[in-house]
Amino acid sequence: MKDNKEENYTIGSSKEFWEEMWHEGRTKWDVGYAAPPIIEYANQLTDKSIRILIPGAGNAYEAEYLHQNGFENVYVLDIASRPLENFKKRVTDFPEEHLLNQNFFEHAEKYDLIIEQTFFIALEPKLRSNYARKINELLNPGGKLAGLLITDTEPSESGPPFIDTKEEYIKHFERIFNIKVYETAYNSIKPRAGREMFINFVKKETKDSH
Ligand SMILES: C[S@@+](CC[C@H](N)C(=O)[O-])C[C@H]1O[C@@H](n2cnc3c(N)ncnc32)[C@H](O)[C@@H]1O
Repeated sequence: MKDNKEENYTIGSSKEFWEEMWHEGRTKWDVGYAAPPIIEYANQLTDKSIRILIPGAGNAYEAEYLHQNGFENVYVLDIASRPLENFKKRVTDFPEEHLLNQNFFEHAEKYDLIIEQTFFIALEPKLRSNYARKINELLNPGGKLAGLLITDTEPSESGPPFIDTKEEYIKHFERIFNIKVYETAYNSIKPRAGREMFINFVKKETKDSH
């Protein structure tokens, strides 16, 4: 397989860049609470022992919600240290070893569910396929990527965020995943209403998944 290591350190994905964004308080994406479509999705999950990863989690309000609602194996990953420090102060009983200050592309564990919330659009477009492949690699057989993708009718000229059309995003996932849900969320927060796709992509079975 092609080694994309260097590519994964481009502007939108370097630690220095994101540490600076956090340091300067340039966090306009941060809405201050968990996204209602993700809460609703989490509320219908019955097995609270599943391993859940939130990559590019920022202040990770979704992780806080999951933790408070009895999910035992929630992991929060961010390349910047500041949001993890914020989280540690805010959610004092969250296991410290579940806070991962790491580049997503270098992470190597296995999960049953990965939650997407404005991380994919933080990455440069050329990293989209790498993201899809990495998510696939991090999932256990039958594992899922669920969450939200913000779309627009035209691609952003610059970023982050690198917002794009729903047709463009799906190209990176449809060959690797079974697309269970890819539809406009009906319960987005007002400023994102009509522009967010709710996703539920399931890892495809392979010969060696059995
Ligand atoms: C747009 S913010 C979204 C934060 C959060 N998901 C939210 O919706 O509030 C993107 C986050 O991804 C983190 N990030 C960017 N590139 C990363 C990478 N390669 N590995 C891990 N985290 C990364 C940034 O530090 C930032 O916190």
